Amino acid sequence: MERKLPKHIGIIMDGNGRWAKQRGLNRWDGHKEGANVFRKICDYACEIGIESITFYAFSTENWRRPPEEVAAIMELFREYLGEAEDRENENIQKGMCMHFIGRRDDMPDDIVSLMETAEENSKDATKIDVNIAINYGGRLEIVDAVKKLAQKVKNGEINPEDITEDDISDNIYTAGQPDPDLIIRPSGEYRLSNFLLWQSAYSEFWFSDILWPDFTSDDLEKAIDDYNNRNRRFGGV
Ligand code: FPP
Repeated sequence: MERKLPKHIGIIMDGNGRWAKQRGLNRWDGHKEGANVFRKICDYACEIGIESITFYAFSTENWRRPPEEVAAIMELFREYLGEAEDRENENIQKGMCMHFIGRRDDMPDDIVSLMETAEENSKDATKIDVNIAINYGGRLEIVDAVKKLAQKVKNGEINPEDITEDDISDNIYTAGQPDPDLIIRPSGEYRLSNFLLWQSAYSEFWFSDILWPDFTSDDLEKAIDDYNNRNRRFGGV
């Protein structure tokens, strides 16, 4: 039987700190390697024909980390976004349409501006939607959707009793993209940590002990193979 590719894959990039600790390195060395793996997996997903991929890079809770670690992660974002611009849009050539999901208010202005440029430059690319969740929280995403709908009610554009699930789906950050079929969490943790809460209602989950900096395209293949053995019923029989 032909293998089914998930249309949308979500990935929680976890275990960078432990990977670094095992090697006697700083936590940010782990994030640096994590960012390299992010690039490789993103390219690979694009190559094999995945339509959407979402990476959890920084949660609204991650600000609680030591300031030097937060600064190092922000620097990795700057590097990646700056390099996307410099390489005269190598990613766009590959067909990657970039989206940054999460609250931008608390992010440094220069990074927000780089995100906007990357989105604007890549908006016509059609091979894969790459969502990078930065300052993202799943509950906050739902709050933001509810605020938009409340505003529409206030303006008299919709009636509260007419609000449907589709209205929420159309007002979350990933509006227009399919919900994730498969969510991958490495590093031996078995939780969602506020990632894609609305979108994951019927997602299949794949967990593994591999730490994110050790994650390879073979692991992605394994997750896709396992996904093919799942029997998705969506509440039916
Ligand atoms: C979780 O591992 C990882 C993060 C909070 C940061 C992830 C960020 C990157 C991989 C950089 C992404 C860069 C780009 C360009 C998108 P952890 O620190 O919680 O690991 P631990 O549980 O082992 O301590």
